This record gives sequence, structure tokens and C-alpha cells, in this order.
Amino acid sequence: SIQRHLSTTPSGSRIERMTVFGAGLMGAGIAQVGAQSGLKVTLSDVTDKALENGLNIISKSLSRVAKKKSPDDIEGFTKKILANIETTTDAGKAVEDTDLVVEAIIESIKVKRDLFGFLDSKAKAECIFATNTSSLSVTEIAESCGKERQERFAGLHFFNPVPAMKLVEIIRTPQTSTSTYESLKEVTLRIGKAPVTCNDTPGFIVNRLLVPYLLESIRMVERGDATPEDIDTAMELGAGYPMGPFKLLDFVGLDTTTYIAQGWRGKAASGQISKELVEPIELLDKLVKEGKLGRKSGQGFYEYENKK
Ligand code: 3HC
Repeated sequence: SIQRHLSTTPSGSRIERMTVFGAGLMGAGIAQVGAQSGLKVTLSDVTDKALENGLNIISKSLSRVAKKKSPDDIEGFTKKILANIETTTDAGKAVEDTDLVVEAIIESIKVKRDLFGFLDSKAKAECIFATNTSSLSVTEIAESCGKERQERFAGLHFFNPVPAMKLVEIIRTPQTSTSTYESLKEVTLRIGKAPVTCNDTPGFIVNRLLVPYLLESIRMVERGDATPEDIDTAMELGAGYPMGPFKLLDFVGLDTTTYIAQGWRGKAASGQISKELVEPIELLDKLVKEGKLGRKSGQGFYEYENKK
């Protein structure tokens, strides 16, 4: 059905070159899936070390993909895809000739606005700007750019792990033009992902439903109603989720979840989300304070052997 969609999508300007800002887990994943589908990708970050780390994430993931797609020539497969990826720490140069910018840097409205404000004067007029923010207002980020760019601005929200998760949320602001939206939908399909569309609201679709559920599961443990292990087993076997809420919390990062909930508390004041859903939780704050952030720190609700 992805192929059928592809042939009937009205052709806006076709995206051939993509520039990804941020070589962390999300940015590296986005660069990788773009390169795998033949886009010319530029990956940009502020230090060479960050870029190197990003390329490492990509190589590891590509060898996983290659084992399935090209088991006889893992190295050749990986090389061919890596050839579609350039890296640079020069942000201006990174967007010189690009058709699409996807930003996946830290979740700070100020840092994101500064970056896009700078890129607005460097990228060509037709270039589409997209943010992979999961918790900030796309409209507020877009306002760092001129009026015309705001029409070519949207949210493009991928899920972790990007190479494995099929979904992309396309977030339309009131300014996002229809042709921008159509171009993003078309490129999402070309990357092999399934697009859904949402207004610019807290958490869009997935996180708006997922984060309150994750927080509620922590409240359940805090009250002593059930253990993390039993809640995970319950949701995996009783609701068919691939990971129970505590495995997922450790996977996403307890700091990330805390950060999202904090940001939404501000929005609760203006009625965009109900206050009860995002009340602070002592147990969560305690773990974060102790540096127990999940898989990446070796401990969260569970302990992990391979500390990353
Ligand atoms: N690179 C390449 N391929 C990968 C990969 C990676 N990093 N991680 C997983 N895969 C592939 C595997 O190769 C495998 O492919 P196959 O089915 O073709 O053989 C497939 O994904 C499944 O992987 P596994 O067999 O190793 O393990 P699982 O079946 O347990 O799946 C999982 C792993 C896909 C992570 C699954 O557990 C899952 O879907 N978990 C839930 C993840 C989730 O909810 N993510 C969203 C988090 S919220 C978010 O990202 C939003 C943010 O804004 C906070």
C-alpha cells in the first residue's frame, strides 16, 4: 500500500538531498534510513567527536540490517549506504544545496530557534525545514524563521529505534503549506515509513497517549499496587505491547520522560493538556536525581550489564 500511495501522491518539489542536524541516536537513525533509500545525506553536529559517534551508531545498525538484506556481502552493503552520507561541523555549508533539513538536536527551544534562524539565511528558498522535536511547539520553533520559510516548516517526528520503527508523525502548523506537507509525506513513504498527520499539540499522537500511560505505571509502583516486573508482563502478555512500560521507560530514558512531563506542566496552565496527567512523581524524580536514567546509564527501573 506504500507503493500505491507513492504513485498517487501529487508531486511537489522532489526531495533528493537531506541534511540532518544532530548526530545522536535519533539524528543518526534518520540519516541512516534516508541514506538507505537513496537520499544524499549530510549529517551535521557541532564537534567531530559527535559526528564520529553518529557514524558508529549508523555502522552498527547497518550491519544488523545487512545481515538480513545482504548476508553474503555485509561490508559491501554497509559501504554502499555509508557512501550516501557526508558529515560536516559547518552548519552553513551543510545546507548550501539541500532540499530538506531535519533537526534532531537537544530539546531546547532556544537552541533550536537559534539554529533555524541561522539556517534560514543560508538555505535555498525552496528548502523545507523540519524538526524532530517530541515535546516542543513546532509553531514556536518555526517562528525563528521568516514568513515564507514558515510555510515550508513542519514537524517530522521519528521513533526510537528509527531503523526499526515504521511510524513518522507529520506535524502541520497553521502556517505549513499543503505542498510542503505533500512533499514530506512523499519523502516519508520513499524512506519506507508510514506517515500520520497531527496538529501542533503537546505530544502529537504517540507521546500524548504514551507518556501519561508511562507516568501512570510509575504511580502504580509508587502506591505499591504491583511491581515493575509484573506490570511489564501484564502489558506485554495482556495487551500485546512489545515492551512493558518499565522496559520502555528505561529504553526511552527516565530523564527524557521527566523532561517531557515538565514541559507539559506549563501547557496544562493554558488548558492544552489536563494537569492530573503530568503531576510530578517522587519516585521518578528520585531515580533521575540518582543518575538512574535507564539503559544508557546502566540502571533505571532495571539493571543492565552492558553500560553504554
Ligand atoms: N537498527 C536496525 N534494525 C533494528 C534496530 C536497530 N537499531 N533495532 C531493532 N531492529 C530490527 C531488528 O533487526 C529486527 O528486524 P527483523 O524483524 O526484520 O528481524 C526488528 O527490528 C526487531 O528487533 P529484535 O528482534 O531485536 O527485538 P524485538 O522484536 O524485541 O524488537 C523493538 C525490538 C523494535 C525495539 C521492540 O521491542 C519495540 O517495538 N519496542 C517498543 C519501542 C517503542 O515503543 N519506541 C517508541 C518510543 S517513544 C519515542 O521514540 C518517541 C520519543 O519522542 C520519546
